[in-house]
Amino acid sequence: MSTNNYIESNKDRFLSELFDILRIPSISADSAYAGDVRKCAEKVAEFMKAAGADNVVLEETAGNPIVYGEKIIDPSLPTVLVYGHYDVQPSVPNELWNTPPFEPTIIDDKIYARGACDDKGQFFMHVKAFETMMQTNTLLCNIKFMIEGEEEVGSNNLGTYCKSHKDKLKADVILISDTAIIANDCPSIDVGLRGLSYVEVEVTGPRIDLHSGVYGGAVANPINALCTMIASMHDENRHITIPEFYNDVAEVSAEDRAALGRIPFDLEDYKKHLDIADVQGEKGYTTIERTGIRPTLDVNGIWGGYIGEGAKTVLPSKAYAKISMRLVPNQSSEKITEIFQKHFESIAPAGVTVKVTPHHGGEPVLTPTTSIAYNAAAMAMKETFGVDPIPTRGGGSIPIVALFEKELETKTVLMGFGLDSDAIHSPNEHYGIFNYFKGIETIPQFFKYFAQLSQ
Ligand code: BES
Ligand code: MN
Ligand code: MN
Repeated sequence: MSTNNYIESNKDRFLSELFDILRIPSISADSAYAGDVRKCAEKVAEFMKAAGADNVVLEETAGNPIVYGEKIIDPSLPTVLVYGHYDVQPSVPNELWNTPPFEPTIIDDKIYARGACDDKGQFFMHVKAFETMMQTNTLLCNIKFMIEGEEEVGSNNLGTYCKSHKDKLKADVILISDTAIIANDCPSIDVGLRGLSYVEVEVTGPRIDLHSGVYGGAVANPINALCTMIASMHDENRHITIPEFYNDVAEVSAEDRAALGRIPFDLEDYKKHLDIADVQGEKGYTTIERTGIRPTLDVNGIWGGYIGEGAKTVLPSKAYAKISMRLVPNQSSEKITEIFQKHFESIAPAGVTVKVTPHHGGEPVLTPTTSIAYNAAAMAMKETFGVDPIPTRGGGSIPIVALFEKELETKTVLMGFGLDSDAIHSPNEHYGIFNYFKGIETIPQFFKYFAQLSQ
């Protein structure tokens, strides 16, 4: 039986099994869900085994377990290491979902659930593609699976695991489906990801919350101060004002920028989809460049003072914000965190003190476009989509990709099948049934071409 016939005749089960995974609320950010995270790992291991993998284990870490499994058909053949993550972002605010986030629901040929696209729907394509190759006798490379449970909280324990399991994880390429394509009739492959530097800031004014009439105007208000400080970190051209921030930013060649300019992109559709009247960003760059090749600074959350019902007249003692900086080659997250801290402390007005606490970070990466693996992915997509994929830059971060390169000396191919409009991390996340099966169809082609080109 051909791989496509096998997929076709198992369509319903491939969907219902994904639904079993989607029903488990494996939210890594919230310790209340630790039991569900483990349950999800066990379920993934079960499906991996059922698909035909050997030596399936939950690898214990200081945090959530990593699901490992493998099929070594012939040590002389190339080995593909498939990475993905079974943990998901929190679903809150739940009231903004049209269907329950952990009750997968199909509407208009899309699967609605937290993790449907990021990354359960996408890593599970690999499990089903592997089953398909096993059942149709078409597995032409060795395969190793590493599906982790802490990607959404910074993969803190995965680096240690990789460092201490170098032999076990030895592979010729790392294959990841955790990114997007441009459109269903316009496939693409991310050849870069941004890095991340994430900090939390605390601004402290008076010892306690004060009456805003009795003291207002005479005592520095930490929320006012925080807002001024945040506003000052961009100039009128939306350029970041932190000294030395751009020092290590790699200039992208005119040729590469021209290529980015040829990527199909409809600004009107983009604005309409987001319900915004206009876009905003660094002067001199297009929207695609702003998310692909330029670093950014964004407030992710800000709080302090009184936010309950009605009005309470209070001059707050404290103000807080969570700030992310997306980084591009060759910025270093450690260095950027350091210069942010130094700068933020230096701009604090008299009357407040500030504290900067670093959270997780990650390094930006570029993946090769001339490798056998990239070519295999491009040929596979060409075969199943009917057109050549376009190399693009992903705006998000998968910090472990840089770590794989450092610890395992192995390069990655980012063959994702999501869409930017899939609402990952947002309410009503979804994944197209078309995309799910297109992935399951394309992955065996990748294995075929990777084996062929490796000879
Ligand atoms: N799958 C995403 C990253 C992504 C999405 C890359 C779209 C390219 C295009 C991943 O799960 C993610 O959300 N990563 C986090 C980083 C992590 C350290 C929390 C991110 O980018 O915010
Ligand atoms: Mn992801
Ligand atoms: Mn994510």
